[in-house]
Amino acid sequence: MNRETIEQTSRSLSKPTAESTSEPTANLARRSFFLGAPGASTLLLTGPARPARATPSGRSGSGSSFANDIRSKIVGLDAEVTMRNGSKAPLINFDNAATTPAFTSVLKEVNAQLEFYASIGRGFGQKSKHSTEIYENGRQIVMDFVNADREHYTVFYVNNTTDGMNKLSSALITSKSDIVLTSRMEHHANDLPWRKRATTIYAEVDSLGRLVLSDIERLLSKNNVKYVSITAASNVTGYVNDVHAIARLAHQYHAQIVVDGAQIVAHKPFSMRGQSADENIDYVVFSAHKMYAPYGGGAVVGLTDELNKHLPEFYGGGMVDVVSDYTEIYPDAPARYEAGSPNYPGVVAMLKAMDILKETGFDYIVEHEQYLMRKTIAGLQAISRVTLYSDTENIADKVGIVVFNIAGKPHGEVAQEMAKKRAIAVRQGAFCSHPYVWRLLRIPNNEILQLMQTPNTALPGMVRVSFGIYNNDEEVDALVETVREIAG
Ligand SMILES: Cc1ncc(COP(=O)(O)O)c(C=O)c1O
Repeated sequence: MNRETIEQTSRSLSKPTAESTSEPTANLARRSFFLGAPGASTLLLTGPARPARATPSGRSGSGSSFANDIRSKIVGLDAEVTMRNGSKAPLINFDNAATTPAFTSVLKEVNAQLEFYASIGRGFGQKSKHSTEIYENGRQIVMDFVNADREHYTVFYVNNTTDGMNKLSSALITSKSDIVLTSRMEHHANDLPWRKRATTIYAEVDSLGRLVLSDIERLLSKNNVKYVSITAASNVTGYVNDVHAIARLAHQYHAQIVVDGAQIVAHKPFSMRGQSADENIDYVVFSAHKMYAPYGGGAVVGLTDELNKHLPEFYGGGMVDVVSDYTEIYPDAPARYEAGSPNYPGVVAMLKAMDILKETGFDYIVEHEQYLMRKTIAGLQAISRVTLYSDTENIADKVGIVVFNIAGKPHGEVAQEMAKKRAIAVRQGAFCSHPYVWRLLRIPNNEILQLMQTPNTALPGMVRVSFGIYNNDEEVDALVETVREIAG
């Protein structure tokens, strides 16, 4: 059966929805409470026990009181690691853009829900119905988190942003000649899935590494672009892109917009809705492990009608309604995008993390990250051998990331020294965003091509400091002091 025939025969026999299971699961919710698992139902079923606001009252300006209050809500910050001199200390984690530690209540919620865990969308057992309700209702929580219009959007769960981008691009792209406009700022997860399936064109960045909006418009006006796929925030410089302005441009030229939300969702409020309908985002993709929920969850939020026109290249159980000897009938989205047994702990963790982030308040998170960034930049700028990359003066359009090098010291050596000397974890290299980092380092493509042809050559790169909501003044002081020692 070819793809078109599959699409034509497709009909809606999706997994149980909140409506279809509402009566029995409402009973289940009550029952799980009586079964003695209040923790299992606080967030998603009974709902009343919102966590206390995680931030101290009266904080202003200083990031530390905020961070110190949050620290007790994060798993493992006191866990000690061994340094080179044999002594032990808690790890100072400045690699939050890669992944974040878990919220304590995420861990608790997952454990509580596992008491009532059974197969999703398949069984009539009480636990199965309970888990299914949490899983299905979770889609509304995700949509609310990104301010998506529930009537026109749906959510399918994925393992992470990479998985989501691959699934989405495998569905949306129908021919290698489809043109996708992305940028030179992207993480490989928002480049290679398109590059391998479609024809990609790239908007440039300026000398400080900011995306050039006029280049997006230029490329849109010259090419028949089908999709524009842009990151909401860079994992290298932290720049936040005006995705709604880009959406307006994309729609003006009859393209749809996909947003890589990996670096925004734990740092700033993200809205699928713009000021007007033409600024709305069509699809967003993100990972839960970057939002204090490291259980392998993630989501793609997208236009339901559009997703129903396509099928991802992932087949198997759970995403098909009926199979005969040679034909199949597929359900509507989201089910058709979720082949195989779902990652329930990943979903539970992500939903709980969204709740905590909202409760904490993005206004405070933004203020805190700005504070840490300013402090770090000032500290590092005072060290003569340190070079900082991207804009270090106007940082209002950045999430909490600082990138630098020490003259004469390879980035890998610096990162290793920081870990061994002081148990400080940073990230080194080109952060899965090679073309962007080469631009920031001003290395032309022909030099990179030469390097690529020379086996075992150390690649150029940088050291990245990326903040989480729990990082505090003392940690930044330790970082700056250690960089100063290493710089010599
Ligand atoms: C901007 C951006 N996009 C995509 C990804 C890929 O995320 P994941 O590894 O969770 O798939 C990352 C990871 O660092 C990222 O920073």
